[in-house]
Amino acid sequence: METPGQLETGLEGFRFWPGALGPLDQTCLLAQVRAAVAQAPFYRPETPGGRPFSVLMTNCGPLGWVSDRTGYRYQPLHPLTGRPWPPIPPLLLALWDRLTGLESPPDACLVNLYRGPARMGLHQDRDEADLTAPVLSVSLGDTAMFRIGPAAGGATRVVRLASGDVCALTGPARLARHGIDRTLPATSRLLTGGGRLNLTLRRAR
Ligand code: SIN
Ligand code: FE2
Repeated sequence: METPGQLETGLEGFRFWPGALGPLDQTCLLAQVRAAVAQAPFYRPETPGGRPFSVLMTNCGPLGWVSDRTGYRYQPLHPLTGRPWPPIPPLLLALWDRLTGLESPPDACLVNLYRGPARMGLHQDRDEADLTAPVLSVSLGDTAMFRIGPAAGGATRVVRLASGDVCALTGPARLARHGIDRTLPATSRLLTGGGRLNLTLRRAR
């Protein structure tokens, strides 16, 4: 795994690469994500309790993470179009390769779109079959206040994730609790109309 940039998180296994993607890479990645979204449109999922997410979602890759009244799971088809998710953008596969150094590529890429007051409550990523593979998270657009704390509970801290920043939950931080308190409007001009995209690469099976 490429050595991450300096950040004192006090959370072993949380890796942070500020500015891992430069402006040109961000623009290329955005174009690749836009092409994927043209195949698999954003939709608003519901929690198992029937509450709409404030974040819009779609996926790329063989499997996509979905949530509805029957629960959380990975599935090969878009819940609204019934079609397979588009392939994971090549730039993201290259980034996974570069930063994790793992032989096996990710098989799922969740795409979250935050606009306005959208946020994500504290949770753990635990729907994957193999919890030893890292979760790699790429930020594009407006800066997010990312909250993270130990799996077992206790104090959390906030890390600002700006456009082009990449972080990973690995090892002892693989099951860290994390969420997005809010995004900071007009902190990036990458997305027309503002907002933030988060791309989360995982090995689901
Ligand atoms: C997530 O945990 O699924 C999203 C985190 C983020 O948007 O940075
Ligand atoms: Fe998550």
